[in-house]
Amino acid sequence: MNIDKSILIIDDEENIRKYLGRAMAKDGFDVFTAEYGKEGLNLLVRKHIDIVLLDLNLPDINGLDVLKEIKEVDVQSIIIIITAYGDITSAVEAMRLGAYDYLTKPFDIEDIKIVINKAFKIIGLEDRIEGLQRQVDRFKDGELITRSKKMNDLLEFVERISKASTTVMIYGETGTGKELIADLIHKKSPRTSKPFVPIDCTSLPENLLESELFGHEKGAFTGAVGVKKGLFQVANEGTVFLDEIGELPLTLQAKILRVLETKSFRRVGGERYLEADVRIVAATNRNLKQLIEEERFRSDLFYRLNVVPIYLPSLRDRKEDIFPLIEYFVQLFNKKIGRNISNVSNQALKVLIDYDWPGNIRELKNVIEHMVITSKGNIIGMRNLPTEIRDIDKDVSFRSDHLIENDSEILPDYRKTKRDLIEGFERNYLKRLLEKNDWNISQSAREIKMHRSSFQRLARKHGLQRS
Ligand SMILES: Nc1ncnc2c1ncn2[C@@H]1O[C@H](COP(=O)(O)OP(=O)(O)OP(=O)(O)O)[C@@H](O)[C@H]1O
Ligand SMILES: [Mg+2]
Repeated sequence: MNIDKSILIIDDEENIRKYLGRAMAKDGFDVFTAEYGKEGLNLLVRKHIDIVLLDLNLPDINGLDVLKEIKEVDVQSIIIIITAYGDITSAVEAMRLGAYDYLTKPFDIEDIKIVINKAFKIIGLEDRIEGLQRQVDRFKDGELITRSKKMNDLLEFVERISKASTTVMIYGETGTGKELIADLIHKKSPRTSKPFVPIDCTSLPENLLESELFGHEKGAFTGAVGVKKGLFQVANEGTVFLDEIGELPLTLQAKILRVLETKSFRRVGGERYLEADVRIVAATNRNLKQLIEEERFRSDLFYRLNVVPIYLPSLRDRKEDIFPLIEYFVQLFNKKIGRNISNVSNQALKVLIDYDWPGNIRELKNVIEHMVITSKGNIIGMRNLPTEIRDIDKDVSFRSDHLIENDSEILPDYRKTKRDLIEGFERNYLKRLLEKNDWNISQSAREIKMHRSSFQRLARKHGLQRS
């Protein structure tokens, strides 16, 4: 994530604005310039400015007054003063009023860069303290694995809609990958170099959530010692991901609607409107229409958000993804936990594929982690399954796995075990074969040299059909 760097140069000398502006732009800064003090202050209230280069000798207002006013509006921007050679008194006064440093004219561009870089280190530090960087490494293992046609179609759609700045609404059960998709939309968009800022609307009580989203002014409430930047400001030119938006309190719904309509917002306790150039992606696992009926969700906000709806299928509706996801998570946890699992027993695989996965991919990920942690050898099997999953299908936990993996003295019934094992293998194999061939029966039958009608009978026996 790139927290953007911006600089405002307030100086009446055109040469300085041009010369310095160009040099700073080259160094990756967003550059704003102003000839007059008033003009500079105007920019300052509307834009997110990190550093102000302020000439004390301005045509309209005294630079020191500008400085005072900046400090009132935005305590966080760092102000570097430019003074005429020899005017050390006002430089000292400026420092007393809260300027970060000063330079005397004529100055060297390199000197200015050194001062600015030093100042930036300070900003970086403050930002970290504020926790703005906390999301940076979240998606290190956030690869999106899928083999299903449904998901591939959806990804194609995501790719197309990412380019524009339209609001996107993601629907899906818990754990289906809503946040992963939101992140992908951001990554595929022109905003990719700017921040992606997720916020869970259920994570904070209403008043704290408001100040988290919009920031607050100094003294807005007890404990608000300084100005705080909200997530909408941090995410400027980037994407805000409003997770669980169905839970957002009605008062904040009205404020989000305002952001969408006017592209501006106010800090808690603030008067002025700040520009918000953000794309909003929201997600919910609730039925918003029903919440609207219960008057817990604003219908106007719903229509604003629902410009591009995306429906994430549950894992049980794309069972073909279970196997590749297992493979991926096994590798992931091998690496994380330092194991070397090379296989999953057929029986365990069958249970995993048959299971309903109410918690979807998140649940599968947790289960695989559990299995990898509890494994002893190189294979994970039935005994590594969490009991609640193993016991779901008693018929399956009849212990054929036991026979293979355990040296228990109690042997299960020979014929039944054999039959069940073969059935399990048969079902698994045919299913994977069919998926591989996009459910083309003739092609699948041909591949294993079986008659088409026998194949069909077998598939029917196992209830295999395209979901
Ligand atoms: N297709 C996928 N491939 C790999 N990992 C995935 C996939 N989908 C989801 N995950 C992983 O599963 C976990 C849950 O995903 P995510 O947080 O995006 O779901 P969610 O829908 O936002 O869940 P919740 O409703 O619980 O907030 C994450 O660790 C994510 O990395
Ligand atoms: Mg989520």
